Amino acid sequence: MAISQLGERDRRRVLRHLLALEDHDRLLRFGSRLPDEQIEAYVNRIDFKRDTVYGVFNRVFKLVAMAHLAFAPKEQVGGQFDTEKPMIAEFGVSVLKQARGYGIGSKLFERAAMHCRNHDVDVLYMHYLTSNKAMVHIAKKAGMEVQREYGEADAYLKLLPASPGSVLQEALEEQYAMFDYTLKANARAAAKLFGVRKK
Ligand SMILES: CC(C)(COP(=O)(O)OP(=O)(O)OC[C@H]1O[C@@H](n2cnc3c(N)ncnc32)[C@H](O)[C@@H]1OP(=O)(O)O)[C@@H](O)C(=O)NCCC(=O)NCCS
Repeated sequence: MAISQLGERDRRRVLRHLLALEDHDRLLRFGSRLPDEQIEAYVNRIDFKRDTVYGVFNRVFKLVAMAHLAFAPKEQVGGQFDTEKPMIAEFGVSVLKQARGYGIGSKLFERAAMHCRNHDVDVLYMHYLTSNKAMVHIAKKAGMEVQREYGEADAYLKLLPASPGSVLQEALEEQYAMFDYTLKANARAAAKLFGVRKK
């Protein structure tokens, strides 16, 4: 599975992806059933230079999954963090219904954790509703420390420092993803040019 790092050129794709989420999924992803305008405002605020945004494309270059890894000073996030580092990372993810159950959500989480390790951030934080069984499972599987409160949960993962292996693995995955992105983007552009319908 190729996990691409998204940039400014993908902002519209990110918006289309999030607008495709149904009401209940919006609730699970953002903690409330955000209307389209607020999703649009959220997407417009994404700072692709400061944060890291990952995407998974299907074969017709549709964004079927995305994860937003936002870095923030630990005082800003609130809560007690077991870290000497000034920044912590907050993770949010969504996978379109048709692509669920194939391990994409878990893989995006693992990729984000590796990126944090390699960028001197040692706490990965996630906020979710405790009714979100898939997310509860992902947090448990990753060995996260979980604090539950009133139907919501904050989960923290303490990360190991970077190693030569983690740096190399991230570099290789990035290279593979860049190849996959270029191939699919070109194929999509060619299909548009020759009027082939997307499926
Ligand atoms: C949560 C979400 C990202 C998971 O994506 P996904 O690609 O289906 O995740 P995976 O395929 O990696 O599955 C995650 C694990 O949860 C398990 N799982 C899924 N649904 C489950 C359920 N209802 N009960 C228990 N476990 C469940 C899967 O079996 C899988 O376990 P495994 O890895 O041990 O086999 C996706 O459901 C989604 O986008 N939901 C809406 C938005 C959201 O909830 N975002 C999270 C808030 S930050």
